Amino acid sequence: MISLDFSNLTKIKAAHGLTTKALQATPAQIGRHLKKISNRKQGFYTVIDDAAKVKKINAFADSVAGKYTDIVILGIGGSALGAICLKQSLKHLFENELKDLSPAPRLHILDNIDPALISDFEDLVDSTKTLFIVITKSGTTPETLAQYSYYSHKIYQKKLYPRDHFVFITELKNNPLRQIAREENITCFSIPENVGGRFSVMTAVGLLPAKLIGIDIEKLLLGAREMRDRFLSTDITLNLPYQLALAQYQLAKKGKKINVLMPYSQKLIRFADWYRQLLAESIGKQGIGITPVNALGVTDQHSQSQLYNEGPNDKLLMFINVENLGPCMPIPTMIKKPANFFPEGLTFNRLMHTEMEGTITALTKNNRPNITINVPEVDEFFLGQLLMLFMGATAFLGEFFKINAYNQPGVELSKVITKELLQKY
Ligand code: PA5
Repeated sequence: MISLDFSNLTKIKAAHGLTTKALQATPAQIGRHLKKISNRKQGFYTVIDDAAKVKKINAFADSVAGKYTDIVILGIGGSALGAICLKQSLKHLFENELKDLSPAPRLHILDNIDPALISDFEDLVDSTKTLFIVITKSGTTPETLAQYSYYSHKIYQKKLYPRDHFVFITELKNNPLRQIAREENITCFSIPENVGGRFSVMTAVGLLPAKLIGIDIEKLLLGAREMRDRFLSTDITLNLPYQLALAQYQLAKKGKKINVLMPYSQKLIRFADWYRQLLAESIGKQGIGITPVNALGVTDQHSQSQLYNEGPNDKLLMFINVENLGPCMPIPTMIKKPANFFPEGLTFNRLMHTEMEGTITALTKNNRPNITINVPEVDEFFLGQLLMLFMGATAFLGEFFKINAYNQPGVELSKVITKELLQKY
């Protein structure tokens, strides 16, 4: 089970930390916030019960098994970051490079329209053996539609059938993508109206590509459901999302308005990207906000920890400690002197954990607020828990700050202005 360790908040100077009392809440308090969340009628914590959706995804995956060497996601923001996180966390770290060894197709996520990316990508895949998953909830995002337009021309030029090379994921409402799907007879998966892009990783948006590359989506959903039940509990000891949000909120009120998420796990580097969007877009509005920053242990000890130790004390550091980092890899004693540079029997796993402990202890000595999220291992079940932990915490944060965590008027405004500019062009 995932656990949260807030003990360092009580060890530092009161001005920067929190007492155990500040992290408490009564069932009535939690219940009030849950009621507010429920009134917003969001689906991110109920969509995980949709067995029919999983059945449809599994049936589609069976029908295309062995047909494609490559799968390409065309999408951006919440339509891309969940799949990027799932792939990085749950597949071999060099999955795509291992093409000949892995039976699963390679998954690529094109979440930009930089022509350098699009043209270089041409050298990588053979579109006759590729399935393009076009993901856009609104069905109107220009970046995604531009990519779709580009690749649909390629498919036509090669005299291939679009329905054999495209699958769409979009909302149920009529939109340009739905229209194309109807005209071209392209398979379409839907994103429920009440699940926003950055909360959609447990819909077809995340689950379809995950399934196609061999991720156990049932186990992912199982973990998510376990954490969802905690999220809906009025018992503070069970409700980890509430605990996390409360610490973030209380510390933000004390001026810690930057949250650094630092997993000590290469597999979770993209989880931090996924969370960066979730926190930034959900909470950053009406002059309110917590600025998310990503860091990776141990790598960024050598790029950022100086700032975190001695720079402005305006951050909450959130570490993710993965207990089982994978194969136990001993570090051999050095062939040349000094042979005893490392203690005998030291493993990479132990070195990683020791360095994390050193980093956290130094920060605590410097009165820097920090918490640790302990994760037994990075598998489907615990990743499902982790994703739901942070989505649930974000939902509570929205209520604590009294803002709607589910819209993004700032993003919409820039979309409207870009559209106007394009019309002039
Ligand atoms: O979280 C969000 O709502 C956004 O980041 C969207 O995912 C992003 O703007 C892409 O939108 P769409 O899925 O409609 O193409």
